[in-house]
Amino acid sequence: MNLLITGASGLLGGRIAEHADSRGDSVFSGYLAHHPPFGYPLKLDVTSPQSVSEAFRRARPDVVFHTAAITGVDRCELERDLAVQVNVEGTRNVAEAARVSRAYLVFLSSDYVFDGSRGLYKEDDERNPVNFLGKTKVLAEDIVRSSGARHLVARTSFIFGSRAARGETNFALWAIRKLKAHAPFRVVADQFITPTYDRNLVRMLFEAADKRLEGTLHLAGATRLSKYGFAFSIAKSFGLDWELLIPSSMDEMGWVAERPVDSSLDTSRARALLENKPMELSESLKRLRDEIPE
Ligand SMILES: NC(=O)c1ccc[n+]([C@@H]2O[C@H](COP(=O)([O-])OP(=O)(O)OC[C@H]3O[C@@H](n4cnc5c(N)ncnc54)[C@H](OP(=O)(O)O)[C@@H]3O)[C@@H](O)[C@H]2O)c1
Repeated sequence: MNLLITGASGLLGGRIAEHADSRGDSVFSGYLAHHPPFGYPLKLDVTSPQSVSEAFRRARPDVVFHTAAITGVDRCELERDLAVQVNVEGTRNVAEAARVSRAYLVFLSSDYVFDGSRGLYKEDDERNPVNFLGKTKVLAEDIVRSSGARHLVARTSFIFGSRAARGETNFALWAIRKLKAHAPFRVVADQFITPTYDRNLVRMLFEAADKRLEGTLHLAGATRLSKYGFAFSIAKSFGLDWELLIPSSMDEMGWVAERPVDSSLDTSRARALLENKPMELSESLKRLRDEIPE
């Protein structure tokens, strides 16, 4: 299968490319500034229709994983024009190219399309984002849905794994590093998520793509808990000192953008449709431990 990945230098895109390589797929790894770790590197700026159509011309993809985005929550709030250009217009360009080339498109969306007032959101629940990142994802979802391309909107939540991407860490790696250094740190106890192990997510994404599932699907971890609860579980699982964790509130963090209080995702549709099920956090952390040397 010919695959094109946008954002292949990112946390998720890199894992998708790695997995595709291991399956023997022909993988074109789109990147903007950071060289992708796997696949055939292809310079690709999603904000440029020419760059996107040139990438499609070279890759001739059967399947496109569109993961490229401005993902920083505060960054999107502060750099709104850029967030619109990449997350919204970039998605328009990719969806249009997918339609023209009849490629099947998997668009990565986010739990931040929800306002977080309830939690355990199902695919058809009302979207009502509280920050600009969430707003760009709502617009992008709508563009994909009306594009005429065969597509899946895959929403995920708080991805973690053993690999730092683009020189940036992820929450789990950061927490493990801090705990190993015996450094106390604050973690919010009033924000709830469904942390998602990157390798589990990738397997679910590939199965959904192989089956050409369409519509919207929540692909996330099976365990809902607070960020503090997540850090506590990491400490316990890695045999590290959980007393270094200082429970805090979102108000104390000085973040620019508002965060939804509970953006956890209900993954029962994925559980029903896929052989690769959303993983419980205890299992994900066990696998993560096997990946990270003592
Ligand atoms: N991480 C999470 O917890 C999470 C949660 C929910 C949803 N998601 C969604 O999942 C997807 C992947 O997230 P991630 O955390 O893996 O992202 P990430 O690590 O922040 O990587 C973002 C990627 O986007 C690329 N990019 C940025 N601007 C671009 C442009 N103009 N043209 C082409 N590529 C561009 C970057 O390329 P360069 O590095 O080469 O510049 C990078 O490869 C995103 O759509 C995100 O919204 C993520």
